[in-house]
Amino acid sequence: MAEDLNVIQGTKEEQYKSLLPQIKALIEGETYLIANLANVAAALKQQFNWLWIGFYLVKNNELVVGPFQGPVACTRIKKGRGVCGTSWAEFKTIIVDDVERFPGHIACSSLSRSEIVVPVIKNNEVVAVLDADSELLNHFNKTDQQYLEAILSEINFD
Ligand code: SME
Repeated sequence: MAEDLNVIQGTKEEQYKSLLPQIKALIEGETYLIANLANVAAALKQQFNWLWIGFYLVKNNELVVGPFQGPVACTRIKKGRGVCGTSWAEFKTIIVDDVERFPGHIACSSLSRSEIVVPVIKNNEVVAVLDADSELLNHFNKTDQQYLEAILSEINFD
């Protein structure tokens, strides 16, 4: 595909609807996982300009930071720790409206106010999580969950 991402204005839903086919085209035919995760993180950053967006990958029973866009982040997170480790332990997407009200939240950036973490489940195991952080409170909702899960389902994590 053309390298230029078409970034649009509009509602959250309109933005995701514009982005989803572009992400599909961007990763189509590419088998190297890290390349695809890097481009997906970059595409989400370009469209939404969140504070932080990226991946943590499960390696030796820990989450290790993978491709991301934003400020430097914690390198390793244990199962059950923080929002990412909780999403992993509970096999579910977690939306945090106010990070200060999430017990055990790991503050990689003091600017983060709200967060969504979506697990990637393969063969009944979590193999990675997608994490997005916003400087705004209450920024993420079910629309983000629905479309981020749809985006993740396009990625081959083999
Ligand atoms: N806040 C996350 C840690 C990762 S950073 O936000 C990039 C957590 O509590 O798991």
